Amino acid sequence: MNIQWFPGHMHLTRNAIGERVKTIDVVIEMVDARLPASSANPMLRELLRARPNLKVLNKADLADPVRTQLWLDWYAQQQNTRAVAMDSHHSAPARALIEACLTLAPHRGGMDKPMRVLICGIPNVGKSTLINTMVGKRAAKAANEPGVTRQEQRYVLQDGFYLFDTPGVLWPRIIVAQSGYNLAAAGSIGRNAFDDELVALELLAYLQRHYPQALQARYGVADNVSALAEMRDDALFEAIARKRGALLPGNRINAQKAAELILQDFRSGALGRVTIETPEEFQQWLATGERL
Ligand code: G4P
Repeated sequence: MNIQWFPGHMHLTRNAIGERVKTIDVVIEMVDARLPASSANPMLRELLRARPNLKVLNKADLADPVRTQLWLDWYAQQQNTRAVAMDSHHSAPARALIEACLTLAPHRGGMDKPMRVLICGIPNVGKSTLINTMVGKRAAKAANEPGVTRQEQRYVLQDGFYLFDTPGVLWPRIIVAQSGYNLAAAGSIGRNAFDDELVALELLAYLQRHYPQALQARYGVADNVSALAEMRDDALFEAIARKRGALLPGNRINAQKAAELILQDFRSGALGRVTIETPEEFQQWLATGERL
């Protein structure tokens, strides 16, 4: 898949984060719990220079809880890293992040040695939402179009505890083709950069293998779950299009509309709680997938 790329922006963000990290004690890296590896930016690891790293698997309310646990176990094996899963609209887990940061950098906090925390994450992962919840008021602008540039901001959470927003826009860095599809499915890359129909077909194929019951519950296009799992992908796509009324004159299917409906159902959680990659799968894509 051909994803449009913005190396100029990336270069600026890389420099800005590199500078900022020098005076940071803990980096909170937000990823999407439905696609944790694809929604991480591998460039951050280089920039963090051994800073303690708190991974937030956000939108956990939309993710498959069994797979979320697989990811938490995976991150638990990594050095200098803690991981938590959350829905950043909720204040209790968001405020618990303060404690987690203090655990990761126990020598910081207080007026003498204030704790300085940087929140990083690709567009649309939920940074503004988390900041708003942590700060307790509508402090950061939540924008639903990926890549709305914001000025870096500092928020005072409590005496001696400062939160910094990502300076610039941290675009995803797509290293395998499957990550591109997954990011597009989640709505994390600008709409003009990909073909909705291709992305919806990829998503459907994955869901058919791993969550056929979710597809059957939402669309009911086969006699039962096993029959749905056996359908050809184009037949499944067409059946969903017809069932949902995505049609053109002459009873032809409106593929664009059908694709948008399917993607919207995934993004909004209407398909139920699903996660579209596991640690094992991601390692496999890295080893054998199409490298970009
Ligand atoms: P960003 O700053 O990283 O770009 O992301 P932002 O907070 O703007 O969040 C992007 C979208 O994701 C928002 O939805 C937000 O509500 C949603 N979101 C953030 N965290 C969570 C979460 O933990 N769970 C769920 N289910 N959704 C989350 P939106 O529809 O674009 O905006 P809004 O109508 O909710 O304001």
